[in-house]
Amino acid sequence: MNKKVTTLTIKDMKQQQKPISMITAYDYVMAQNVDEAGIDMILVGDSLGNVVMGYSSTLPVTMEDMIHHTACVTRGVSRALVVGDLPFMSYQESTEQALHNAGRLMKEGGCDAVKLEGGARVCEAVYKMTEAGIPVVGHLGLTPQSVHQFGGFKVQGKNIEKARQLIEDAKALEEAGAFAVVLECVPADLSAEITKELHTAATIGIGASNQCDGQVLVCTDLLGMSGGFRPKFAKSYADLHSTIVGAVQSYIQDVQSREFPAKEHTFSIDPDVMKALHEQK
Ligand code: KIV
Repeated sequence: MNKKVTTLTIKDMKQQQKPISMITAYDYVMAQNVDEAGIDMILVGDSLGNVVMGYSSTLPVTMEDMIHHTACVTRGVSRALVVGDLPFMSYQESTEQALHNAGRLMKEGGCDAVKLEGGARVCEAVYKMTEAGIPVVGHLGLTPQSVHQFGGFKVQGKNIEKARQLIEDAKALEEAGAFAVVLECVPADLSAEITKELHTAATIGIGASNQCDGQVLVCTDLLGMSGGFRPKFAKSYADLHSTIVGAVQSYIQDVQSREFPAKEHTFSIDPDVMKALHEQK
C-alpha cells in the first residue's frame, strides 16, 4: 500500500504545485476501485441525493444518510483521504450544531475531514472544527445547497462584486483553518486568482478550469454511468452506462435461451445418490 494521504500531503502538493485528484464515491465497492486507482482524495458528497437516491437536489439528504454512506466508503479505502459532506441544515443553525455534526461524521462515518458550503458565514464553525481537530474543506461558487437562492445552476462570480466576494470568502476560509476549498462553476481567470491568493489551502475545481490546485468529478459522470444529463464541465472517461445495459441484455438473453448457467457454473452430485433417491420413491 502506498502511504496514506493526509491533510499534510495535500498541503505539500499545493506547495509543490502537484495537481490533486479527487472523485466522489458513495459505497464500498466504488471506494475500493478508486482507491486502488490511486486517487488522492475521495469525497462522499451530498450529491449522493441526486446520484444514488434519485432526488432532484441535495436538499433532502440527512445526517443519517451521510453517516451511513461515509462509513461504507471508509471501509473500502486504505490510502486516499476521505472527506464527508455535511448535508443541508446540518450546520447552518449554529456553530454548536456544526461542530456536533462534523464530530458525528468523523466518529460514526470514519472520514478524515468534512466539507461544508459557504464563505464568511461559516468561518466561525470552520475555526471551531479546526480547533477541535476536525480538518475542513470549504466549498464556494455554485454551492448546490443554495440552488434556490441562486435561482438555478449558474456560473458564479461573473461581476466585480461577486468576484471580489468569492476571493474574500476563500481567504476567510483559509484563515479560519480550511486546508482545501472546492470551487464549483467559477470562471477560469477568477479560479486562477483565488488559487494565487490562497497560500496554504488548496483549491479543488469542478467547472473551475485547470488553474486550480486540484480537480474533483462526480464518479458517475467520470465513468459515464447514467444515460441522462451530464454537466458541461464533466468529462466522461468511460461509457459504463452502455457497458452495463449491454451486459444485462446479454444475461437476459442467456437466461431465456438457457445458455446460462453453463456447466462451469453448476454443481454436480454423485449419480449413485440420485439413483438411490429415485429407488426410494
Ligand atoms: O456533493 C458533491 O459531490 C460535491 C461536489 C460536486 C464537489 O459537493
